[in-house]
Amino acid sequence: MSSEELQATGGTEVVEIALQLAMASTGRSKFVSIEDGHHGNSLGTMSVGASEYREGLPNLLRGCLKVKRPLDANAVDRVERRLRKRDVAAFITEPIIGNLGALVPDALFMRGLQRLCRRYGTLLILDEVATGFGRTGRLFASELFGLAPDIMTLAKAITGGHAGMGATVATERVARAAEGKVNVYSTYGWHPLSVEAALANLAYLRAHQTHLLKDVAERSEDFRCRLLQMDFGSPVDIRVTGLAIGLEFEDGAYAGALAGRCRKAGLILGIDDDTLTLFPALTISRRTVHEGLDILERCL
Ligand SMILES: Cc1ncc(COP(=O)(O)O)c(C=O)c1O
Repeated sequence: MSSEELQATGGTEVVEIALQLAMASTGRSKFVSIEDGHHGNSLGTMSVGASEYREGLPNLLRGCLKVKRPLDANAVDRVERRLRKRDVAAFITEPIIGNLGALVPDALFMRGLQRLCRRYGTLLILDEVATGFGRTGRLFASELFGLAPDIMTLAKAITGGHAGMGATVATERVARAAEGKVNVYSTYGWHPLSVEAALANLAYLRAHQTHLLKDVAERSEDFRCRLLQMDFGSPVDIRVTGLAIGLEFEDGAYAGALAGRCRKAGLILGIDDDTLTLFPALTISRRTVHEGLDILERCL
């Protein structure tokens, strides 16, 4: 992707910039996103997040439409109904949806999405703030579906988590069309300390990418094998894509109680309603994986 970058301090800012770029380059104002996704904490990014945010903040952006799960081949028709009028600036989604328990959309849905975006002149924004830089076993999760987004948002692991930084990467076509129309300035955007951290991190990735991604694939299998054998106290959907791991339980109370027991025993799990998430460091050792899973198993 030939590209232009805009400078930011983190995930919320890069998504905000992406939304502005999409509006400026298409001359349209609507957005479509996945219901209950998370893209940040500003009014703009919350407008493309969960609809329930509107209950407390009724004046979020107008013209933000949502597509509900399941994200399968049938959902492609629901997307088309929203894009058909050619007034949608961008469709934004994570390729693997972290806060929904590392949810993996159907490949037919993702490829259909790209096709429809091209047909109706809607930009495809892939938010790789959480999935970028190896999390899913590929350098970028977009690769899992063979997608070529118009805009990609990056933060978190761009510095290996050592400093706040983000980058909005757009194709040359989008950048040209928006030139002079988006004026983003952020005091700490690409602060020299953050840039040093990012350069060191990217140099490490460049030198060790093959090895690192091989480790991610192996540890991912360790997680998958053990999790699939565990006897959970509620029916559960287990999703493992690289080291983006989610457990969505039928019984939300069980999920909460399990996370509480694990925490007391020394294992912190991400929890959101009925869903637990495990996003360990990509450099986690096999031994630590098993130590953590032993705790989980004892707490079932
Ligand atoms: C996919 C995604 N986009 C955007 C954000 C917002 O990033 P930040 O917390 O750095 O503002 C997050 C944060 O968790 C995220 O996971």
